[in-house]
Amino acid sequence: LREHEEFTKVKNIATIELGKYEIETWYFSPFPPEYNDCVKLFFCEFCLNFMKRKEQLQRHMRKCDLKHPPGDEIYRSGTLSMFEVDGKKNKVFAQNLCYLAKLFLDHKTLYYDVDLFLFYVLCECDDRGCHMVGYFSKVIQHIVYRYVWFPLSGLLIVKRNFYWVQEKHSEEAYNLACILTLPPYQRKGYGKFLIAFSYELSKKEGKVGTPERPLSDLGLLSYRGYWTRVLLDILKKHKGNISIKELSDMTAIKAEDILSTLQSLELIQYRKGQHVICAGPKVLDRHLKAAGRGGLDVDVSKLIWTPYK
Ligand code: ACO
Ligand code: ZN
Repeated sequence: LREHEEFTKVKNIATIELGKYEIETWYFSPFPPEYNDCVKLFFCEFCLNFMKRKEQLQRHMRKCDLKHPPGDEIYRSGTLSMFEVDGKKNKVFAQNLCYLAKLFLDHKTLYYDVDLFLFYVLCECDDRGCHMVGYFSKVIQHIVYRYVWFPLSGLLIVKRNFYWVQEKHSEEAYNLACILTLPPYQRKGYGKFLIAFSYELSKKEGKVGTPERPLSDLGLLSYRGYWTRVLLDILKKHKGNISIKELSDMTAIKAEDILSTLQSLELIQYRKGQHVICAGPKVLDRHLKAAGRGGLDVDVSKLIWTPYK
């Protein structure tokens, strides 16, 4: 019911101020009731607290000592930095981020339970601080400890296990829940950077990943663009046959996503009950040309990260 209500609610906040930008919003977001009468909200660009009046924000900025998102900086290359924010440790920031993001996401219900999520916040940094460009969120891989009691030896052995749901579906773990590039930064390759980053984390985890469904139109366009470019680049370089499984192992892209991408490019034939990739150099060149810009690359050597513990 709640979901339905949110879908049918009309847009409340029309514009927001965030850093040096004034941004028109796209969708309804369930801000607390005391903000019901507002058409404009003023956000602190660092802690993401929001206020009704400009003077409140100015007063806030004089005492807010954050200059970047809370959490760990896990990537820095040139002026780009990525921060990992644990929703459990930075609840208010995470909630504020969700309120803000919902203004640009129509199909997702807001996750009120930010405890379960990690937020990867991409920033452009200068001498005034790190300015948020966009982010993606990801469900924490729960680790449960299974205690096994060995009565004879009196030993208590602690076994670390991934939460069973994750374990059961480990082949199809979601590596991204929500993705957003703030409107002033859209169409500059940041979306594909965030997507590439989510797959780099999956590679480090030794897992295959896929985004949560449904995807928005822009989300699907961005993913399709990313998958297409990554797969074409490999096919172009690779000599000899290659299977979908091998492509999946190399890229951390889920096999189904690879299949649907290659099918849409008409690079798949069905032979003797199997999907076979058929891609001659000329066809690949034609597709590569059509695939457009590659986006901003993730420099993996600048990523300092170990999977969540
Ligand atoms: N019109 C047409 N194509 C577009 C547009 C647009 N307005 N925006 C993006 N694309 C396509 C293009 O193919 C583009 O590649 P190209 O520029 O090489 O042609 C590709 O998507 C990616 O462009 P980027 O610049 O890398 O992506 P951007 O930084 O704009 O971010 C994103 C894409 C995150 C989807 C952004 O549009 C956004 O935040 N939208 C609102 C929120 C949203 O819909 N998020 C996805 C929901 S699904 C989910 O969360 C699992
Ligand atoms: Zn602040």
